[in-house]
Amino acid sequence: MFHKLVLIALFISIHLISTRAFDCETTDECKVEFGEDSYFECTSKKICECSEFFVLDPTNSRSCLKGASFNQTCTKDIQCTFILGASSFCNPTISKCDCKAGNSEEVAYFNRRCFILKKFGESCSEDLQCILDIRGNQSSNPLGKCLNGQCGCLIDDMTNSWNSGGSCITCENCTTVEISLFAIMGSATVALILFVYVMYRVGTHKKKQ
Ligand SMILES: *[C@@H]1O[C@H](CO)[C@@H](O)[C@H](O)[C@H]1NC(C)=O
Ligand SMILES: *[C@@H]1O[C@H](CO)[C@@H](O)[C@H](O)[C@H]1NC(C)=O
Repeated sequence: MFHKLVLIALFISIHLISTRAFDCETTDECKVEFGEDSYFECTSKKICECSEFFVLDPTNSRSCLKGASFNQTCTKDIQCTFILGASSFCNPTISKCDCKAGNSEEVAYFNRRCFILKKFGESCSEDLQCILDIRGNQSSNPLGKCLNGQCGCLIDDMTNSWNSGGSCITCENCTTVEISLFAIMGSATVALILFVYVMYRVGTHKKKQ
């Protein structure tokens, strides 16, 4: 019982010490605490927090770092991921925010975000992964669509598109492909039925003998 009380008291005092430094009524108090040129401000929670577009340095809780967008100067990854999302990093060779590719992945920057690109049939979570090319060009495969978690081609009331060599083309261009495919499938089915029928007849003929 006594041990528990000591632990609780210890916890409360540690909690008070660790938050007291951040308690504030005005931003001036944060300036006193963290330095005039810091980016801490007194928020509505009455604690000193990093200003908008700034993020707490994960290695120094007394420092706020400026968020950085694609191709902007950075020193730490968090400045980039804070703005561009998880598929970004601070590229040390250029000291600028860049899109980050995993093993055998391709990434593109578009509209203030980094996207992991996906090919036809590969798993995806949003349309732009199937549409963009590595330069972030959204005219590359405009009919690409993330369908049930896989890159496919747009089909709706207005458009009927079809995968042709990795990109989607509208089906005015691909009816011949479709017809010839159906023709192949159709004749294969007829041939199979004929084969089964012939084998059956041969079988029954043998039995009679
Ligand atoms: C990055 O910015 C520099 C200028 O700051 C520009 O010359 C360069 O083309 C940009 N790179 C990309 C990939 O946008
Ligand atoms: C984007 O891709 C389209 C189609 O491939 C091409 O016509 C266009 O020139 C590209 N735009 C840029 C900026 O690369």
